[in-house]
Amino acid sequence: MSEMWNSVAPGWEANAEFVDEHLAAATDALLDAAEITEGDAVLELAAGPGGAGLRAAQRVGPKGSIVLSDDAPEMVAVAARRAIGYPQVSTAVFDQNEIIAEDGHFDAVISRHGLMFAEDAVSAVREGTRVVCPGGRFAAMTWGPRSVNPWLGVVLDAVGEQFGVPFPPPNIRGPFYLDDSALLTSVLEEGGLDDVQVQAVETPMHHASVEAWWERVPQLAGPLATALAAMEPDVREQIARRAMNAGAQASRRDGDQIVFRGSVLIASGRAPQD
Ligand SMILES: C[S@@+](CC[C@H](N)C(=O)[O-])C[C@H]1O[C@@H](n2cnc3c(N)ncnc32)[C@H](O)[C@@H]1O
Repeated sequence: MSEMWNSVAPGWEANAEFVDEHLAAATDALLDAAEITEGDAVLELAAGPGGAGLRAAQRVGPKGSIVLSDDAPEMVAVAARRAIGYPQVSTAVFDQNEIIAEDGHFDAVISRHGLMFAEDAVSAVREGTRVVCPGGRFAAMTWGPRSVNPWLGVVLDAVGEQFGVPFPPPNIRGPFYLDDSALLTSVLEEGGLDDVQVQAVETPMHHASVEAWWERVPQLAGPLATALAAMEPDVREQIARRAMNAGAQASRRDGDQIVFRGSVLIASGRAPQD
C-alpha cells in the first residue's frame, strides 16, 4: 500500500494547498474535537503532506510539538519540506498500526482521511490510544457517504461503469470505507476510547471548471490514480468523458466557479484515565 501512496506523493505535493484550503473549516473542527491548545504534544497519523498537523502547529505554538507521520516515505518527505520554518514540527515514517512512540507520550492524536486505509481500523485506534496520555484525545476525520461527496463519487462511478464492476471493489478499503457514524463510533469505542462522538461537517469543493476538477481529483485519489495510469489512453479518455458529463450534472455554478457537495465525519474520544 505504501508504494501506491509513494507514487502519488508528487500529485499530493502539487495540490497540498488546495486540499488544505478545501478542508480548512473541517480541520479546525478536527483540532477542536482533539481539544488541541497551546503547548500540546500532538501526533498526526497518515499525515500525507501534513496539512492538519501544520494547522495544529499554529495552535500549539513554539512551546508545543507536532509529529507528522505516515508509512509512505515520499509523503513524509513532502511533509518535511512543508514543515520548514516550523521548529516545533518533526516527521516520522511508521504505520498507524505500529506507532513508534512510548505509551502516553502525546496529549492528542489526530488523523485526517487516513483511518479508513488502516489494515485494521480498530487496532489502529487502539494503537493511537496507547500513545495518548490518560484523559488525552484521539480525533479522526473520514469522508461521509459517497452520495454526499459527488466530487469523488462520480469519478469512481465512471471507472466502475466503464468496466461494469464497482470501483473500488467492495472488499478494498477505499475512501468511503468508514463513511457511517455508527460504524465509526463502534471503531473508536472498540479501540478503547471513552465519550466517543461523531459530527458531520460540510466541505463544499470549488473548481474553476469541470475540466479543472477532472484535472485535479484523480491525482489525489490514490488507488484511482494508479489504476488510471495503467489504462490504455483511449480507455482513460472514455472514463474522462463519462466523468466530466457526470461531474457537470453533479456540480452547480457558483459565480465564476463550479461547486460540488462534500461532507466529512469527525469522530473523537478520550483515552481512559488510569
Ligand atoms: C488520503 S491521504 C490523506 C493525507 C493527509 N492526511 C491529508 O489529509 O492531506 C491518505 C494518507 O494515508 C497514508 N496511509 C495509508 N495507509 C497508512 C498506514 N497504514 N499507516 C500510515 N499511513 C497510511 C497514505 O500514505 C496517505 O498519505
